[in-house]
Amino acid sequence: MKRDYKEYIALSDNRWAEFQEFQRLGLIPTHGDFSPAGVHYPPITNYPPIAQELAYQGFEELERGVFDVYVHIPFCHRRCLFCHYPSHYHCKDSEKDVYLDHLEKEMKNWLAFRGLEKIKSRSILMGGGTPTDLTPEQLKRFLTFFTKYVDVSSCPQFNWDVDPTTLVGEDGLERLRIIKDFQGDRLTIGVQSLNDEVLKKMNRSHNAATAKESIENCLKMGFKVNIEFIYGHPGETLENWIDVIDEACNLGTDEIQLYRLKIEPYGDQEGTIKRFASYRENELISVEDTIRMKQISDQILEDYGYNENLRRVFTRNKNNISIYAYNQCCRLKDQVGFGLSAFSSLNDRFMINTPDFDEYYRRTDDGLIAANRCLIRNRDQQMRWSIILPLKNYYIDKKLFRKMNGFDVNSVFQDKFALLKEYGLATENEREIRLTDKGAFYSDELVHLFYEDLHQSFPPEEFNPGILNPYNK
Ligand SMILES: C[S@@+](CC[C@H](N)C(=O)[O-])C[C@H]1O[C@@H](n2cnc3c(N)ncnc32)[C@H](O)[C@@H]1O
Ligand code: SF4
Repeated sequence: MKRDYKEYIALSDNRWAEFQEFQRLGLIPTHGDFSPAGVHYPPITNYPPIAQELAYQGFEELERGVFDVYVHIPFCHRRCLFCHYPSHYHCKDSEKDVYLDHLEKEMKNWLAFRGLEKIKSRSILMGGGTPTDLTPEQLKRFLTFFTKYVDVSSCPQFNWDVDPTTLVGEDGLERLRIIKDFQGDRLTIGVQSLNDEVLKKMNRSHNAATAKESIENCLKMGFKVNIEFIYGHPGETLENWIDVIDEACNLGTDEIQLYRLKIEPYGDQEGTIKRFASYRENELISVEDTIRMKQISDQILEDYGYNENLRRVFTRNKNNISIYAYNQCCRLKDQVGFGLSAFSSLNDRFMINTPDFDEYYRRTDDGLIAANRCLIRNRDQQMRWSIILPLKNYYIDKKLFRKMNGFDVNSVFQDKFALLKEYGLATENEREIRLTDKGAFYSDELVHLFYEDLHQSFPPEEFNPGILNPYNK
């Protein structure tokens, strides 16, 4: 360990004082909770139903047939306490086979609907759920049809969101070989913690030893490996969090991604943690400790030479970046999603596939695409979207903003940008506006300054009436 517990904790005093000051100034709600803004705007819950013929009406691809591609595999071994992601548990292999049949139909239907033979992929993300919850045979079958419809030959990065349990043992190694054979090259492993008590509380299907074994397997096979952790989860303490992150920095992966526990759901689904919070409130971690954990892990990562790359992802090599996240959130490129509840983030709209198995199967059997809700952004929403996502995740590229909106970013929200600069939260030059290190710490909160009132995550009465209150005009 680079410093002792006492020193790390003492080093988080200033951050906690600063956090309270930002509560007084109205930037952070008085209860201290956050909402993870930054992948969509407006939020998902605002997307109305849409008929297939209208979903793509008037849509122009940025580049014909070129997309970042997402596939949702909605299966997991079991339900983790914290997780709000849409998934299904304890499914039989035969049910997963039926799902794959329909996933193939969906891809065929979509290509026919868009008049394309094959998608040229700018990057790929297999997510879920857990895509490696498929058996090795199913994985091979899936990738065989997937690569019939998506050209991966010149794809610069093929990502997988995976969990440790599925990457160990004979089947785990076989899955990794299959992923490699089909050109998968970057794995994000949900380690969550390296403390067995915390992992048990999370209801994870693995312990710390299995997590480490899975990381070793992936590194040995030459994958780029990103490992994810959650702070502020029941069972964590400042000390055991310090141990976890210190150990994480010594596992040989170049990327470490950190999430603050989100108790409130942020999409359509609600995880078990929400109920847990209501009947075991005494086990929740205080806002103060959660903020200290965030600051402490930033400090440990810095001590080991990691820097924040895209928001919440820390790397030693700054070129190790998720191209998928970069394209979607920073360059605002067209991304299409396949599978149950998958979303598509396109240059002027956002759409989402049905989350209901029966409807998904019915639609795909009937030759339809699976998207049944869509929001075509109006000019104001488009302008906010092209500020919120890049500012939160990387930086606002003024040229890109002008190209997307037809006017300069400097002609809007002048007083809000001036405030961010005055409080040391953002900097600007002739090419870009980006958050400072201090601003990055509060990125989830401060992008709410650019939200329409009706899309704010928390009601006005939960903020002090300070100068940084997101409801200020
Ligand atoms: C799609 S999920 C999980 C991928 C994979 N199934 C796994 O379990 O490792 C992606 C990541 O989101 C994070 N996550 C999920 N729910 C969360 C929550 N409520 N609060 C904070 N982070 C969360 C977890 O770190 C998780 O690994
Ligand atoms: S965290 Fe991963 S394994 Fe756990 S329920 Fe969510 S998607 Fe499934």
